[in-house]
Amino acid sequence: MDSIRIRGGRPLNGVIPISGAKNAALPLMAATLLTADTLTLLNLPHLVDITTMANLLASHGVFMHMNGNAKAQGCGGRVLELTTRDITNTTAHYDLVRKMRASILVLGPILARMGQARVSLPGGCAIGARPVDLHLKALEQMGAVIGIDGGYVDARVEGRLKGAHLVFPQVTVTGTENLLMAATLAEGETIIDNAAREPEVADLANCLVAMGAEISGIGSSRLVVQGKESLHGATHSVLPDRIEAGSYAVAAAITRGRVLLQHADATHMAALIKVLIAAGVEVTVQEDGILVDAAGRTLKGVDVMTEPHPGFPTDMQAQVMALFATAEGASMMTETIFENRFMHVPELKRMGANINIHNNSAIVRGVDALSGAPVMATDLRASMSLVLAALAATGETTIARVYHLDRGYERLEQKLAACGAEIERLRD
Ligand code: UD1
Repeated sequence: MDSIRIRGGRPLNGVIPISGAKNAALPLMAATLLTADTLTLLNLPHLVDITTMANLLASHGVFMHMNGNAKAQGCGGRVLELTTRDITNTTAHYDLVRKMRASILVLGPILARMGQARVSLPGGCAIGARPVDLHLKALEQMGAVIGIDGGYVDARVEGRLKGAHLVFPQVTVTGTENLLMAATLAEGETIIDNAAREPEVADLANCLVAMGAEISGIGSSRLVVQGKESLHGATHSVLPDRIEAGSYAVAAAITRGRVLLQHADATHMAALIKVLIAAGVEVTVQEDGILVDAAGRTLKGVDVMTEPHPGFPTDMQAQVMALFATAEGASMMTETIFENRFMHVPELKRMGANINIHNNSAIVRGVDALSGAPVMATDLRASMSLVLAALAATGETTIARVYHLDRGYERLEQKLAACGAEIERLRD
């Protein structure tokens, strides 16, 4: 397995282009299952999770054509044309689903179009139980009959799904996306209350509207969908990745450097920007992106609590914890979304961080310097927090299990090296 070696202690300086958002691209790709026409996605990131979704979609009969990149449209990223003339197979097999929880996103669209779907349960996950019960209950409310058999969700409906008033007891991002897609082909009106307000949900909704869906309340916690008998093709550009941008904002801050996050959209990153400014980082929104400047600054710890959007994102908790491990004073990081999302803490401690966990909070007391060490992490964002700590640490850090990073960060080494980081991939 590949690893990454970093020699830390250099302030990052330069420009990092931000790719299309992984968490927007995945549901957008699944939306192809709703129409027989071609869906063209621009600004698609080049990531392992995108390949996993492509393999899953291919197993359902989706034809995909990679059509260069979208420089001509003013953004980078790849252009992917997806066509699902017919869904040739309504079963999503365990071998593909187990690789990525977001595979559950094919359930709503396949059931809505075919009246039946069989999708392997995603199973456990390093960052907590992460069940899909809320997806299933909501589909049942729309008339689906759902059974669990041999580790698979077996969903069927007579005729079309029926519009319903859905109230999610807890905010769920992929749950909202799954039901939103299903509702576009249902009979009548569906109301989704307590819908996730993440920008990626709005991006999906905007694409569905371009495909002929009728959706109001986009960006709010109440989505109202008038179901249609069919949708048509569309062209849609994936929004910039706010978590990738946030991670590189922390890279600039933790190394006390100065980096322009090109294409990043500050309107999606308000909670993180507020925390960075409170910590003493200068953040300037420019026409072409966000300039993050911590050169020569003394940073201090800030208390952070993760919440559904527009609150502070759980997907930035580990990275910001690395930052505060090197800031002055103490900060309390409280994780309210996932019950087991502090796996980076023991590894950060091995690099000299002073962190104590009390239930779902971590008290971080800043130290003068972190020191390099061999480390590894068990999920994507935790791995990134170790990369960030390594960029600031004295000496050399080797981060094992790079495949986690490849799931969510496109050209990580190249982007960081272009700003002066001493980073290399060691191939096994
Ligand atoms: C999505 C993101 C992930 C992010 C998370 C929270 C994608 C592909 N992934 O994951 O990066 O960390 O949102 O912002 O977009 N829950 C249930 N039952 C359900 C569904 C969820 O109990 O049926 C719970 C989960 O265990 C968790 C919470 O609800 O505690 C939020 O999870 P959810 O928003 O569904 O996360 P994902 O959509 O899987």
